[in-house]
Amino acid sequence: MNNPSILIIGSNGQLGSDMVMLSKQAGFNVSEIDFPQIDITDPSMTERCIIDFKPDYIINCAAYTAVDDCETHQKTAFAVNAQGAQNIAISAKKAGAVMVHISTDYVFDGKKDSPYLEQDQTAPLTVYGKSKLEGERLIAAHCEKYQIFRIAWLYGIYGNNFVKTIRNVAQKKMQQKQPLKVVNDQFGTPTYTREVCAQVLKMITQPYYGIFHCTNEGYCSWYDFALEIIKAAGIDVELVPCTTDEFPRPAPRPHYSVLENANLKKLNMNVMKDWKTAFKNFLIDESKHISIEHQ
Ligand SMILES: NC(=O)c1ccc[n+]([C@@H]2O[C@H](COP(=O)([O-])OP(=O)(O)OC[C@H]3O[C@@H](n4cnc5c(N)ncnc54)[C@H](OP(=O)(O)O)[C@@H]3O)[C@@H](O)[C@H]2O)c1
Repeated sequence: MNNPSILIIGSNGQLGSDMVMLSKQAGFNVSEIDFPQIDITDPSMTERCIIDFKPDYIINCAAYTAVDDCETHQKTAFAVNAQGAQNIAISAKKAGAVMVHISTDYVFDGKKDSPYLEQDQTAPLTVYGKSKLEGERLIAAHCEKYQIFRIAWLYGIYGNNFVKTIRNVAQKKMQQKQPLKVVNDQFGTPTYTREVCAQVLKMITQPYYGIFHCTNEGYCSWYDFALEIIKAAGIDVELVPCTTDEFPRPAPRPHYSVLENANLKKLNMNVMKDWKTAFKNFLIDESKHISIEHQ
């Protein structure tokens, strides 16, 4: 019998790149595709790609992820994050495939003071959050066999993320002998791409459907995370905690978006590690990746 097949959409992105690698390592028969070979906003193109590949599972890592830009590009945000998700769900159902989709902590307003459960009231503050929430709703309306993983504060080896930004800015501040201010009143959980991949791949063949919170364990502020990043990078810069008000952004960020992986835990399936352990593992993986690149 052939190994089960997975089609990974958005395969060149931060999460998609690791998803391709780890799905192959896990023994799946993997096909990968990204924009412009597929444009998920185009229903017939999406259906053609999915029918051509005939996958057992589809993992959608594609999204319009520029949170601030979404505020001024509302149409694109909804076209990709909502209608795009719907197009995949409709085609997944036609093809008899399970749809795995990635969503976000930004579906919540961040006003709670204890970790969010899957069934908690959603109330996105931003266009990005609203478009992702609409994507969740449309998937549930168009296919039965879906797994939606809400992740948060994502970082990994590929693409741009907070870890890389902090290292770059900290280097510059060190050279300029200036302190670096980092927001200390927003709380969430840094989540390593490969941890998400491992969790998704553990769940994908299981007959469990619905929404699953999927972040590393524990939580911190951006300032706490930045401290870990510059300590690990050995950058000698003074880090100064500041408030969100000092760094206004076009899209307001939730004050508290800690997610509890409650549904995964109920099923005894949660494999997400504590965020500091995951960050250490990222540093190890990153150094291996750099040494392979330099061979
Ligand atoms: N990054 C975070 O902190 C974070 C937090 C919570 C949840 N998430 C969710 O996690 C998932 C993965 O995020 P990520 O950081 O890996 O995103 P990413 O690096 O921005 O990758 C997204 C991929 O989607 C592709 N794409 C965009 N529009 C498309 C379209 N119309 N058709 C087909 N592909 C398209 C992009 O291609 P181009 O580069 O060519 O545009 C890119 O390769 C997303 O669902 C995101 O909403 C991310």
